[in-house]
Amino acid sequence: MSDAPILGELNHVTDLDGASDFERKHTPYLSAERDGEKVRVSVKVGHYVSHPNQPDHFIQWIDLYAGDAAIARFDLTPVAVDPDVSIVVALDAGTTLRAVEHCNLHGLWVAEIEV
Ligand SMILES: [Fe+2]
Repeated sequence: MSDAPILGELNHVTDLDGASDFERKHTPYLSAERDGEKVRVSVKVGHYVSHPNQPDHFIQWIDLYAGDAAIARFDLTPVAVDPDVSIVVALDAGTTLRAVEHCNLHGLWVAEIEV
């Protein structure tokens, strides 16, 4: 069995300062604000460089993972919905959060932080 993602390559930009505008517009901006055991996790696509939000080019969904566990999916529609979402979850300190977004034209893009 292949380890390749079902929907294609997962793009992971690790050097945003050296990244192209194309890479920056697709890389999720992931942030977290802790209040005790609860953490408000926010994900935005288009934070670094604006991403189109039109019927022929938009962010279809954003998945959130805590470690290897899927914790949320946000399904998005174009034009009226900004790809800017948040959720509150209970997370242990040191948990790695990962956001994966899917652009209908340009595939899968990931960002990670530790909370
Ligand atoms: Fe795109």
